[in-house]
Amino acid sequence: MERSFIMIKPDGVQRNLVGEIIRRFETKGFTLVGLKLMAVPRELAEKHYDVHKDRPFFSGLVEFITSSPVIAMVWEGEGVVTSARKIIGATNPLSAELGTIRGDYGVSVGRNLIHGSDAIETAQREIKLWFSEEELTSWEPSIKSWLY
Ligand code: PPS
Repeated sequence: MERSFIMIKPDGVQRNLVGEIIRRFETKGFTLVGLKLMAVPRELAEKHYDVHKDRPFFSGLVEFITSSPVIAMVWEGEGVVTSARKIIGATNPLSAELGTIRGDYGVSVGRNLIHGSDAIETAQREIKLWFSEEELTSWEPSIKSWLY
């Protein structure tokens, strides 16, 4: 089953948007298979954003991600990588559509609340970088047996 790596950045945590962001993925129908609140080591942040290392914002982005805890998550479901990017919205929150997380809550590209893997291969790489196998759990809802 397809998986995506989703990170609520320090601004999302500090603005108390964790519950709201998780709700959007839950109500869409995706399954949460990994989640942790963590301070990000510099080395991990640099590896995660490695492809952007020559871009002017790289050091500022690494500073920001390591400045305060993030929520690292793995979500599972058919088409989750592309769908998560739609739920998140465009990189610049001022261009992001209303109804997306960035469009509804963000105003600055440097504080755009959330990261989502941009392709299936990227997701596989990012999930390995952020989570060990033991931290991820596949599960099926057994809700039918709880309803009378
Ligand atoms: S994307 O979403 O990868 O297609 O966008 P891209 O423009 O390539 O940006 C790559 C990541 O860098 C972040 N970014 C910035 N951070 C701080 N300041 C500026 N100016 C800036 N421009 C881009 C952008 O949010 C992407 O990070 P993630 O964590 O994936 O959102």
